[in-house]
Amino acid sequence: MQKTKIAPSLLAADFGNLQRDVEMVNNSDADWHHIDVMDGVFVPNISYGMPVIKAIQKHASKPLDVHLMIIDPDRYIDTFAKLGATILTVHYEACTHLHRTIQAIKAKRMKAGVSLNPHTNINLLEDIIGDIDLVLLMSVNPGFGGQSFIENTYEKIKALKNLIQRKNASVLIEIDGGVTTENAKQLVDAGADVLVAGSFVFKSENPVQTISELKSVADG
Ligand code: DX5
Ligand code: ZN
Repeated sequence: MQKTKIAPSLLAADFGNLQRDVEMVNNSDADWHHIDVMDGVFVPNISYGMPVIKAIQKHASKPLDVHLMIIDPDRYIDTFAKLGATILTVHYEACTHLHRTIQAIKAKRMKAGVSLNPHTNINLLEDIIGDIDLVLLMSVNPGFGGQSFIENTYEKIKALKNLIQRKNASVLIEIDGGVTTENAKQLVDAGADVLVAGSFVFKSENPVQTISELKSVADG
């Protein structure tokens, strides 16, 4: 059964050939374009901002899955709605009034996601899980592509799946960081619905084929 979504992270794209790389994702089995926004404060790196995302949006034919690694994301909710984000994910650790932030995202007709850093316990989502569309579990410390997968993620996926079922919620589980064909199946077996992959896709010889492989391994 084909069900796992693949979201290639454009952080690993060649920015000198951004249109080419976005079109590669368009023409592949990928489901979403994953867009990593970093502010150099919440995470120790700056990725790209609005003009680049506008250029991505211009060429993208699939939903934009925007992952905000920024402090106080409420300031930019309206901007990302205008840029055409389908899913807007904020970090639990970056929001003082998470419930308000989620409502503001949904008021702009975007799907609302919450991301957890590797050290953040999933039980903290107990009182918000019924209000959100997606949980993005970081399987590396956010800030950089190309890091090694943290093995504890499997346990977190299972615990999150339990929480979702216990609360009778309808929430996708997305995994971000160090995803490859080596761990894709185990992630899906644990309960993952969406796999983000950056370097594994873009550093491969044939990214379109690598995306198809990820998908078939995940659902195999
Ligand atoms: C990391 C980003 C990821 C990153 C994943 O902070 O959120 O989306 O691009 O890259 P890989 O797949 O190379 O670990
Ligand atoms: Zn990401």
